[in-house]
Amino acid sequence: MRTPDLDVDGARVHVKVEGTNPTGSFKDRGSAVGVAAALAAGTDAVGTVSHGNMAASMAAHAAGADLDCVVLVPADIPTARLERIATYGPRILRVDGDYGRLYHDALALGPAAGVEFVNSDSPLRVAGQKTTTLELLRAFAAGEAGADAPAAPDAVVMPVSSGGHASAAWKAVREATAAGLLDDPPRLYFVQAAACAPVARAYARGDDAVTRLDADAVGETVAYSIANPDPPSGTRALAAARDTGGAVVAVDDAAIRDAQCDLAGAGLRVEAASATPLAALRRLRAEGAVDAGEHVACVATGVGYGGGSMSVDAETVTRGNSGRRSAPSEPRPRATARRRPRSRRPARACRSRPELSRRRSWPGR
Ligand SMILES: Cc1ncc(COP(=O)(O)O)c(C=O)c1O
Repeated sequence: MRTPDLDVDGARVHVKVEGTNPTGSFKDRGSAVGVAAALAAGTDAVGTVSHGNMAASMAAHAAGADLDCVVLVPADIPTARLERIATYGPRILRVDGDYGRLYHDALALGPAAGVEFVNSDSPLRVAGQKTTTLELLRAFAAGEAGADAPAAPDAVVMPVSSGGHASAAWKAVREATAAGLLDDPPRLYFVQAAACAPVARAYARGDDAVTRLDADAVGETVAYSIANPDPPSGTRALAAARDTGGAVVAVDDAAIRDAQCDLAGAGLRVEAASATPLAALRRLRAEGAVDAGEHVACVATGVGYGGGSMSVDAETVTRGNSGRRSAPSEPRPRATARRRPRSRRPARACRSRPELSRRRSWPGR
């Protein structure tokens, strides 16, 4: 965990950096457990449905364990993402058509095909991904968040897509509390990109369950990794936010870019999706949900993608169609993050845009 010289109108920012995991995101935590369990069960092949961090992570862990790996990606996957996944040599199936349904199809068909699918909210993945929050809690308890920090953060903010990581955070907090390790559990806040925010929509409406967004309610966003219109564990994320006294909010791309630049200025490279917690914290602080003086852990879930030029061998399969159009963005939050002391403004480190806006979305990154 890092405590950069950032605060948001008096709320102290701590960053749980997940980009230092072997393939650059928190997904390695779930993949490690999934692959270990597959090995223990004598399974020869693992798989996942993802066009991003989870695909690269599963492929890498399978390669390390000498297991076959099949990765289902959308036909229009950006080249930089495809190249990164291909680095680890999985069998890549490009799916042309309704990619979203594959999340469920893969889980149903995997056993007959001899493939253990470790998708975004499968129990093995959630078990591994609890360790993000457990590490964060341990760091606070051990005094690593600084002399002025409490024994546990007042709040944790993390991006939500499928809801697998959010479910894991909630489980970690509940288990640590039940074990007597946590006197004052943190509030859990989850954040989505405004252009694709089914969980935030359900929270704002007071719904009991998250429902799938129609294609015309989904727009483009720089936070491509978390743009999931039909999150399989969205309802769990909703319950986790309410149960802990937190919330689910949406932030627009301008706010995400600002947060990404401020983190870069503090020396932390994160992908757009992983900058959403800082953007959300600004909004939460402006709305009074977070107070000045509170210590907030923002989970920077991944480091992101670079470009490349390798040739990639991938097959293409065809399914039914899906489509989407743009949705209106939310207004920019007013509160600003700044370095301390306040006279020093953050060095904005964003001369180039690290990740381009992408169009499609589906369950499981
Ligand atoms: C960088 C990044 N952050 C956050 C998430 C959201 O995780 P989850 O799908 O478990 O909600 C993802 C999902 O792929 C991701 O790639």
